[in-house]
Amino acid sequence: MCTYILGIETSCDDTSAAVLSDNRLLSNIIASQKVHALYGGVVPELASRAHQQNIIPVIDAALKNAGITKEQLSAIAFTRGPGLLGALLVGTSFAKAMALGLKIPLIEIDHLQAHVLSHFIYDENKKQPEFPFLCLTVSGGHSQIEIIKDYFDFEKIGETIDDAAGEAFDKAAKIMGLPYPGGPLVDKFAQLGNANAFTFPHPRIQGFNYSFSGLKTSFLYFVRDKIKEDTDFINNNLNDLCASIQKTIVDVLMDKLIKASEFTKIKTIAIAGGVSANSGLREALETESKKRNWQLFIPPFEFCTDNAAMVGIAGYYKFKMGNFSDQSAVPYARRIK
Ligand code: KG4
Ligand code: ZN
Repeated sequence: MCTYILGIETSCDDTSAAVLSDNRLLSNIIASQKVHALYGGVVPELASRAHQQNIIPVIDAALKNAGITKEQLSAIAFTRGPGLLGALLVGTSFAKAMALGLKIPLIEIDHLQAHVLSHFIYDENKKQPEFPFLCLTVSGGHSQIEIIKDYFDFEKIGETIDDAAGEAFDKAAKIMGLPYPGGPLVDKFAQLGNANAFTFPHPRIQGFNYSFSGLKTSFLYFVRDKIKEDTDFINNNLNDLCASIQKTIVDVLMDKLIKASEFTKIKTIAIAGGVSANSGLREALETESKKRNWQLFIPPFEFCTDNAAMVGIAGYYKFKMGNFSDQSAVPYARRIK
């Protein structure tokens, strides 16, 4: 008999619910909160309120699209953290109440593990990565390289010491006057620009760690100085600015990933998280893979940014292990391990 897992994701500004039958995705509904664009970033209180409004219709739509009733569910998986506490509370409380009402197991999921495990959502046209593999997880809140030894056995070998890669994209976009989240727009304009038009310094950080806050500052000063010479500098150079800053971020990400692969001798490479949607990063990965004989795993676009399908697949593997939570589960803003 197959299992039906409901996944619920509310860690940041996307309210999402998905239903999986074993490892096969039946539905994946995402309500992205537009309200934050007005403020140039996610406003935590507004995110919580929007989750509260969205959660019932989103779960309802996920069940309807999957063609099942809530009584058929085997378990409910929810993102327990990391993320915005008030946002996580909405999904956590809802999952707990629903699991209690339906008398089915409750499964807590770590958001970053879920990003990585999105590679295991069944796709008849795609192979799945074999353990151990290296995963570069790059999102709006995190940038890290991990050795993935098993479904829930991850060893972090490098991470950002300040801003995440997604933040670097979003902050550069903000400096150029682009709305939040700026990452996808930088990607779009970069495709029309010259990536070698401007150069920005690469951080010198030890090991496999990253740092992006210096890049943001040098980009800010560079643009500010140029505006003194030409008040329309941003408009006149938007595509080149986007292409150049994107190339710098991608080069920095790739540099450590290549070093990590050389050091660990692992050639199965995966990426995950919102920034894995970036076309420059995908292209750089394809190029390096050919050069270095990597076996590369890039998630489909729909599983790059936040979604509940990845929570559902992580839930499926925990369900098989009998790894359940109880009603005492509370959200965590930062990763506990
Ligand atoms: O994983 P995610 O949806 O949320 C977090 O867990 O943070 O990642 C969101 C981040 C944002 O910073 C967004 O600008 C960035 O991913 N992002 C991109 C692209 N698509 C999303 N950055 C660069 N290029 C993209 N195409
Ligand atoms: Zn995420």
